[in-house]
Amino acid sequence: MANLAERLYDALSEDGAVANSKWSRVAIGIAVLVLASIPLSLQLDSAGEVSLLGGDRSIYRMLADIVIFGLLVIGAGLVLRWHESRTYRSPRVLLLLATLALSTIWIMQALSLWFPEITAFILPIPVAAMLATLLVSARSGLLMGVISVNSAALIGLAEGTTVVGILVWSLFGVAAASLMTQRHALFKSAGMLSLAGLMAALLQALSTGAPLTSAILSAGHGAIGGVLTVVLAYGSRPFLEKAFGITTDVSLMELTDPAHPLLRELALKAPGTYSHSMMTGNLAETAAQVIGARPLLARAGAYYHDVGKIKRPDFFVENQASGPNPHESRLPSLSALIITAHVREGVELARSHRLPLEVVDIIQQHHGTSLVTYFYNKATEGDAPVLEADFRYDGQTPRSREAALVMLADCAEAVAKTVKKPTPARIEAAVRRVMEVKMADGQLMDSQLTLADVEAVVQVYSKMLSCAYHSRNDYYEPRAVRFEYADKSFEPSRT
Ligand SMILES: [Fe+2]
Ligand SMILES: [Fe+2]
Repeated sequence: MANLAERLYDALSEDGAVANSKWSRVAIGIAVLVLASIPLSLQLDSAGEVSLLGGDRSIYRMLADIVIFGLLVIGAGLVLRWHESRTYRSPRVLLLLATLALSTIWIMQALSLWFPEITAFILPIPVAAMLATLLVSARSGLLMGVISVNSAALIGLAEGTTVVGILVWSLFGVAAASLMTQRHALFKSAGMLSLAGLMAALLQALSTGAPLTSAILSAGHGAIGGVLTVVLAYGSRPFLEKAFGITTDVSLMELTDPAHPLLRELALKAPGTYSHSMMTGNLAETAAQVIGARPLLARAGAYYHDVGKIKRPDFFVENQASGPNPHESRLPSLSALIITAHVREGVELARSHRLPLEVVDIIQQHHGTSLVTYFYNKATEGDAPVLEADFRYDGQTPRSREAALVMLADCAEAVAKTVKKPTPARIEAAVRRVMEVKMADGQLMDSQLTLADVEAVVQVYSKMLSCAYHSRNDYYEPRAVRFEYADKSFEPSRT
């Protein structure tokens, strides 16, 4: 069963079989249309019973509603295809968006049939727009907002100025979702969406000439709907993340908390690796900001990239301080095996701590298939034949820009420490050399980094590392202050 689930997951992954088939997107679109046409067709008949063809709507109007919804799905698909190709190419993300749209329609229709008197503003209509923003992107959130509002109108839950009101409310939902990527911003976003719901409902009621008392009641509904929206979005986010293998900035923020058990263990057992990982995180995050990649993913990936070193910290130079070097008594081939094992052990540790897939991928790809040069060179000094493949990491070359940034930050940080009499020019030369070696070795082939990105990364890393590792003037103790007094009998009191 687990095997079947893994194969299905692989097929749905970014470069899996389903992702490469355009029919998968067509199939998702048709499924959305078919599954949405059921709630769109349901209505109450004269006896108050739910039926497909009852009520006062003609079959032509029902078909027109379904066709309009179909056009909405096609329009949204085209926006994604031409303006957000990453989302469009990922069937997992498309499935998530389809699930959000369908659940919104089904839940709205079910509630409006069970409680015919229910008003649109008490329902958490912006929740789908908020979740799409949190889990995918603001553009997907806006599209989801348009789909939710149109669905509410097609169902008959909203009409006239109510449609405008909930559209404005959904817009605030997209904005409030961006707040949720900050720590402790739950109350802020709940307050914002509650106020937006209150204002939208109040003004919509007043614009239709409703009496003040019913406008105030409607405003209360909007305020409650706003809180419900944020609570639902916040509560369902982790489940959706797990179900669709998506990592949001909220989760990444939690991962970069130094109180995370795995980071604490790393700080305790491999303090040198911990401080190297923090510096690598600063570098990768800044570079990601500059080239427009995901800064928090780069930072989180960098924090955990070397967790595998927890198993045998003393075998890594940054943790040896002035202690013995255990490699001295071992063959270079055995040393290379121990060094390269930290990637596999890191992946295992990350999986056992349930770190997100994207972070596990960065751990697996941070050395790519690079050569462990030091031990390879040492091995070639002997007489025995040496196979280069035995001294290479058996990981995967970086498949994302964030993984490539971590790989380059990792090497740049390590090499900057070895520069003698470090000046900005020497550090930049060393960093540039690292990038050239990685490119020549084919490590960045699948990373989607452009040459312009690589140049920007060289500049960022060189500047940051020059500030961190430049040579300093010697530290002088302040000279002892001597007081000479004409009257030797006078001694100043020193407090
Ligand atoms: Fe490493
Ligand atoms: Fe590292």
